[in-house]
This record gives sequence, C-alpha cells and structure tokens, in this order.
Amino acid sequence: MQDLKKLLNIGHPIVQAPMLGVTTPAMVAAVSNAGALGSLPVGGLSPDRTRELIHATKALTNRPFAVNLFAHAPAGEVNKEETALMQDFLAELCFNFDIPYKRQDIDTFRFYYYEDLIEVILKETIPIVSFTFGRLKAEAVSTLKEKGTILIGTATSVAEAKALAQSGVDSLTVQGIEAGGHRGSFLPDHSLPQIGLFSLLPQVADEVGLPILAAGGIYNARTIKAAFALGASGVQIGSLFITANESAASEAYKEAVLHAQDTSTVLTRAFSGKWARGIQNEFMQRMEAKNLSIPYYTFQNQLMSLVRSHAHTHQIKDFIALWAGQSAGKSTRGSTHQIIASLIDMI
Ligand SMILES: Cc1cc2nc3c(=O)[nH]c(=O)nc-3n(C[C@H](O)[C@H](O)[C@H](O)COP(=O)(O)O)c2cc1C
Repeated sequence: MQDLKKLLNIGHPIVQAPMLGVTTPAMVAAVSNAGALGSLPVGGLSPDRTRELIHATKALTNRPFAVNLFAHAPAGEVNKEETALMQDFLAELCFNFDIPYKRQDIDTFRFYYYEDLIEVILKETIPIVSFTFGRLKAEAVSTLKEKGTILIGTATSVAEAKALAQSGVDSLTVQGIEAGGHRGSFLPDHSLPQIGLFSLLPQVADEVGLPILAAGGIYNARTIKAAFALGASGVQIGSLFITANESAASEAYKEAVLHAQDTSTVLTRAFSGKWARGIQNEFMQRMEAKNLSIPYYTFQNQLMSLVRSHAHTHQIKDFIALWAGQSAGKSTRGSTHQIIASLIDMI
C-alpha cells in the first residue's frame, strides 16, 4: 500500500476536514503551512466563487491543499406540493420566532454540481481533490488523473469503499457515524449506513487496499492512535476546527460546540434534506414534531438558505445548522495553528 504522506506530499498524516460554511482559506493555509493537509470545501459553489477561494488560499500558502467537491447526482424532479407545504411550515415557524421568511420560487433555483468545477480545478492545478456524496464519473476521474490529481473519496460502509476503489480513487476517507456534518453515504439501494468507526475502519482496511483517512470523533492522542491501530494511515478531523479563530462559524455556533456533551448531537434531515449530524436545537425538534415530508437535497437546502443566513448573522442558535460530531465538546478556542500543532504533537 502506498504511503499516505508520500501520496499527499505532506509531513504529518492529519487532514483538516473540509467544512462548507466553516472552513476559510486562512484555516486551510494554516493547516497546510504546518505540514498537514488543509481542505478547501467548494461543494455546490459556483465556478467563480471556487476560483476566488482557491486564489485566496494560494495567496496564504505554497504548500499542497485539497479542494473538496460534492459528487451527488443532479437533483431530480421536485415535488411541488411537498415544497409548498414545507414553505407554509417554514413561514409560520419563522413568523413565530420573529425571523423574516421570503417565499421562494423553486423554478428559479440554480444548483452547481462538481462537473461545473472540474475546469477550474484543472486550470488551478489542484494536486488533491477529495469528495463526498458519491463517485465521480469515469470521465472526470480520467481527466483529473491525466493531470496527476490525487483523488480521495468518502465511504460510510464497506460497499461504498469498494465502489470508490473500483472507480479509481487513490485513497479513502472512512467516515464513522460519530462524524459531524453530512453523511457521505451514497449507495441508493442501502438504508443509511450508521456504522461506528471502530467497526467500519478495520472492515474497510481488510477489504480495500488503499490508504485510509479515518473520520469521526477523533480529538486526541488516544483516538488518533486507535484510528491507526484499526487500519488508518491518517486522520481527518473536522469538529475540533469549528472553534478556531479562522473559522467562519458564528459566535453562537462556537459556544454551542464548546458546551456540547457526548449526547448533544443527533442525525437530522431537517436543514438540508440530507442526513447530517449536528447539535440538536429547536428547529430540528419542531421539524421532527411536524412529521412533514422533507424535500430532497438540494431543494430543502435552498429553501432553508435565507433562514440559515439570517440565523447566522443574528446569532440565533436555534435556527443555525450546528453541524458537529460526537466529540465536538472537546474543542478549545485558539488559532488554527495552535490546534493543528497540538494534534501534530500527539502523533
Ligand atoms: C461543520 C461541518 C461541515 C462539513 N462539511 C463537509 C464538506 O463540505 N465536505 C466533506 O467532505 N465533509 C464535510 N464534513 C464532514 C467532515 O469531512 C468529517 O467527516 C467530519 O468532520 C469528521 O468528524 P468530526 O467532526 O467528529 O471530526 C463536515 C463536517 C462538519 C462538522
């Protein structure tokens, strides 16, 4: 098996997880400058915004960093009755909480997919592309590989790991159920895989001969060592960086993470239509109690975008998607450099 550090051209086998809405170019650069791997999330963003973020990161580091994509298939036909009922519910809920709600015309939604971003990635000569929510099409894999790009796919089950290996990725992020944020799960014929890292890592390592990054609940020397013992060659850590000075998370979000307990997070589809782990709040509870059919990603994500952005700006923690993993409460405040340096010390 190829050595992960050599493959990724890094000094320390630690990857800062891409976290859309939280990760900034300054965070990515600080991690890469420390000799680990920063990851810049651009899933769902436009080509122009992607280029801008890549340039902002390159201005802060000469070291390699990864760009992270969402590999899901384009959203299918939307159920207009379902989205109308959801908008009725959101309008009423927002009214009760004094949050402005603007009804959206779903026919005007514009989504960007990973295919829209390949050209920018090739032009910018990005050495490492990681992705979640699926497999890249064969054409994208061969175009990126011709350019020498290293590909890292996300698996939440052995079947997904095998499917990704078959598609030609160089490495896998194995995401346990502990992980914060969206589940990377993508195989349609399976119910949502909910396998803990302790079970999943060794099974993937036994079945697939690719270097593995372990993701989910990793926060200290003990958890890093466990990941290596179970078959990982590196670790991908997200939640510990939410409270970093360079994070784009609101103060209310950071406070919620700092005070999280082991039982604070749950899986929900309420915010985006895709399963994700976050700290439970009023919005999730109201949505669950209503028992409405939730439109599929990316429609629900788009319907929620204005509410989420208002909640972010006005620090309304009960309407922020507080994505966080089961060990998020172990976070501390500090610079990204301090956080990554202390992790490097633990290896
Ligand atoms: C706030 C947040 C946003 C995330 N966004 C992304 C993303 O854009 N792309 C991705 O591949 N993974 C994303 N993830 C999942 C991480 O890659 C990783 O699996 C997870 O953070 C690991 O678990 P931990 O949070 O317990 O460290 C996100 C996680 C969090 C907490």
